[in-house]
Amino acid sequence: MPVISQSVTEVCEQAPSSVAVGRTVTAHEIPALGPAHVAIIMDGNGRWAASRSLPRISGHREGARAVRRAVEAAIRSGVSWLTVYAFSSENWRRPAAEILDLTGLLRRYLKTEVAELKANGVRLRFIGDRARFDRDIQTDLEAAERDTQRNLRLNLTIALSYGARAEIAAAARAAAAAVLAGTLELDKLCEDLFQGFLATAGTPDPDLIIRTSGEQRLSNFLLWQAAYAELVFLDVLWPDFNETHFAAALADYSRRDRRFGARPR
Ligand code: FPP
Repeated sequence: MPVISQSVTEVCEQAPSSVAVGRTVTAHEIPALGPAHVAIIMDGNGRWAASRSLPRISGHREGARAVRRAVEAAIRSGVSWLTVYAFSSENWRRPAAEILDLTGLLRRYLKTEVAELKANGVRLRFIGDRARFDRDIQTDLEAAERDTQRNLRLNLTIALSYGARAEIAAAARAAAAAVLAGTLELDKLCEDLFQGFLATAGTPDPDLIIRTSGEQRLSNFLLWQAAYAELVFLDVLWPDFNETHFAAALADYSRRDRRFGARPR
């Protein structure tokens, strides 16, 4: 659902770099300390399992435990937003048995983890094409979002059946529909207004994107939102990820000079 809460003129006259929900600030206002929003491409579950001669599902199960460690590390580090890529739109091409294992794991995760996340002040959101999941999973996704909507300690977004190109195409369709309906003037469609049609509307862009397993690509993850993100590639398989790796990525981030296209100071 697009979030267009301000008038078109108000939004478009603001500075271009959105980093805070509910208000737009310029790049020089961004705190030099830690990242507000960390996003993670969790990769390497299969290789972790293969290296132990275990079935792939064992790697995914350990991967789900690593999500818990990432959430704890984010909270302890003062990160306000954490987004994890749990299932891409391309992952549906995996063998049916692995899809069944992954959706089964998601089903159990929703039944067992949400209560604890709720108790720990975590607000859950899901982005991606949830209509592709079974009805009972869709119901649990909605319930998890509803039950945690008042939490403020950490905003956890889980990308499920998510692909950035599909997200951008859907946003373009929604913007075009608004133009056709006469609620949006074509000339007024600027970057800030367009991002209100994305699945991540209301969420600041990621400051830091971490990918584990040594692979170095974005794999259709948050392509619009990653425009100025710092990228950190870690040589650890996702099921082994822990607070030390999180801290190492944050330390790397703190050494980066973020200029957002401006000249060096
Ligand atoms: C990539 O590893 C990981 C996935 C496709 C699934 C990610 C799922 C989890 C971390 C667990 C479930 C999480 C939740 C929130 C329920 P891969 O299988 O591509 O590994 P490989 O590249 O080594 O084969």
